[in-house]
Amino acid sequence: MIKVENLVKAFGPKLAVNDISFTVERGEVLGFLGPNGAGKSTTMRMITGFIPPTAGRVTIGGHDMLEDPLPAKRLIGYLPENAPGYADMTVHGFLSFAAELRGLKGGARKQAIGRAVELCFLQNVLHQTIDTLSKGYKHRTGLAQALIHDPDVLIMDEPTDGLDPNQKHEVRGLIKRMGENKAIIFSTHILEEVEAACTRVIIIDRGRIVANGTPAELKARSPEGRLEDVFRAITLPDTVKA
Ligand SMILES: Nc1ncnc2c1ncn2[C@@H]1O[C@H](COP(=O)(O)OP(=O)(O)O)[C@@H](O)[C@H]1O
Ligand SMILES: [Mg+2]
Repeated sequence: MIKVENLVKAFGPKLAVNDISFTVERGEVLGFLGPNGAGKSTTMRMITGFIPPTAGRVTIGGHDMLEDPLPAKRLIGYLPENAPGYADMTVHGFLSFAAELRGLKGGARKQAIGRAVELCFLQNVLHQTIDTLSKGYKHRTGLAQALIHDPDVLIMDEPTDGLDPNQKHEVRGLIKRMGENKAIIFSTHILEEVEAACTRVIIIDRGRIVANGTPAELKARSPEGRLEDVFRAITLPDTVKA
C-alpha cells in the first residue's frame, strides 16, 4: 500500500531525510522510532504529500504522490504532530468539516462522523468547542479527523503523545485493531508501545534507517532482550550531534 523509494529531504545544506526506502502492506502496523530530530516527522510529511521530497518517490496504493496526488491522498488519513487547530469549532462541527473536505455528503457524512466518534470515544464532548477540551480529548478529536473517511492508509505522528496511561492504552488498542485491515505508520518515543501495537519497527537516526525488523527480531539483538538497549546502542543522543 505504501511504497517509499530513496526518499531525501534537504533543508539548505542539512539532509533531514537521507535515502530512506521501505514498504508497508495492508495488515501491517509500522512503528517509527528515533531520537528527536532524526527525520520521522519530515518523512511522514513527504509520505502524506504535505511537503515535496528533494529526491525519491512515494507511491500510495499504486498512485505516485507527485504525479497523481489526488487519488494517493484520498487513501490517506493523517494525524500531524500538532493537531488539531480550529479552536472555536465544536468537535461535531470540526468532524463535519473534515468529512465535507473528504467529499462525504448527507447520510454518508452522518455515518462517517458517528463511526469516528464511536471509535475515538468522543460521545461526551460532541458539542464542546475544541479549545475547552482536555489534552486527551483534543488528541482523539485529531485522530477522529484522520479516520473520518475510513482510509486504507493511516499516518500518525506521535499519536499517544501527552495522553495519560489509560488513554495511551485505548489508542494503542485502537491502532492495533485498525491495523488488521489498513496499512499504518506511527511514530513514538515509547518503546513499549511498539511491542504493544506494531508488527514491524523502523529505527531512524540522522535521516537514515538504522534498523528494520519485527519487535521480536530487534529485541533479540540485545543480550537482555530489551528494545531500549538496542535503541541506545544504534542511535546517538542529540547532545553528541553536530
Ligand atoms: N522546515 C524545516 N526547515 C529546516 N529544518 C527542518 C525543517 N523541518 C525539520 N527540520 C530539521 O530536520 C531534522 C529532522 O526533523 P524532524 O523530521 O522533525 O525529526 P523528528 O520528527 O524525528 O524529531 C531536524 O534537524 C529538524 O531541525
Ligand atoms: Mg517529529
